[in-house]
Amino acid sequence: MTAPILAVDGVSKSFGGLRAVDAARFTVDAGSVTALIGPNGAGKTTMFDVISGMTSPDEGTIMLEGRRIDACKPHTIARLGLARTFQLTRVFAGMQVMDNMLLANPRQPGEHLAGLLLHSRRGRESEHAARAKATELLEVFGLAAKSAEYAGNLSGGQRKLLEVARILMLEPRLVLLDEPMAGVNPSLGHRLLDHIAQLRREKGITFLFVEHDMDVVMTRADRVIVMAQGSVIADGTPDKVRSDPRVIDAYLGGISA
Ligand SMILES: Nc1ncnc2c1ncn2[C@@H]1O[C@H](COP(=O)(O)OP(=O)(O)OP(=O)(O)O)[C@@H](O)[C@H]1O
Ligand SMILES: [Mg+2]
Repeated sequence: MTAPILAVDGVSKSFGGLRAVDAARFTVDAGSVTALIGPNGAGKTTMFDVISGMTSPDEGTIMLEGRRIDACKPHTIARLGLARTFQLTRVFAGMQVMDNMLLANPRQPGEHLAGLLLHSRRGRESEHAARAKATELLEVFGLAAKSAEYAGNLSGGQRKLLEVARILMLEPRLVLLDEPMAGVNPSLGHRLLDHIAQLRREKGITFLFVEHDMDVVMTRADRVIVMAQGSVIADGTPDKVRSDPRVIDAYLGGISA
């Protein structure tokens, strides 16, 4: 048995009187593609916000590769190897695709300025390495030809691909994707899922993704975690989760509510 890359234990987060996340507990296996599902309002995005440090939990612990991260700031958590995308895509529309990629690249403090102002050799070398990495990722995501295009001119699906390519500049160990397929045409969406499978296979990157399309979840995830009303109500293989009466109830309850 491998150690989990992520362990969430007893995590709660309330907004006013609403417990958006309620004593949630789950683990994510290193090297897995794990889906996080649940009806609208189940607390999935809030869970991602808490894991990535955008908001702090009211209680509970979160461990990333054995380190406690629940009191850490987002940039610290990012540096420890966790990257995320947002339910509403965030790219810099007024910047070229390549610049979107380069801006994601972590630098030593002052290195960027030194590179620009002094044309230092180290600055140039790191710029060169970042461009090479960005070019490689844009090729993987089929965006190489769009490198000089403004991100705002890309289709919604291409922007999603760019957002995922961009966070991979950080060389994360764990990637959280919040509805990566939403608003993406099916062929681009499946290409994105193929890239995810490839990155997992070749680089051992772990993915935790929120998805509403059950066919995608069932065919692409090794494991599924189900949330409803802030709590984790089921967790297991796609087949096990699909036939779990609590999961069926949660979805039917959501539809009739
Ligand atoms: N900043 C906030 N302030 C107040 N309430 C919030 C806030 N963020 C989320 N909520 C509430 O918390 C609950 C969980 O929301 P969340 O966005 O985490 O659900 P979700 O599972 O991601 O849903 P969806 O599938 O629709 O994206 C909802 O009732 C939502 O209205
Ligand atoms: Mg959400």
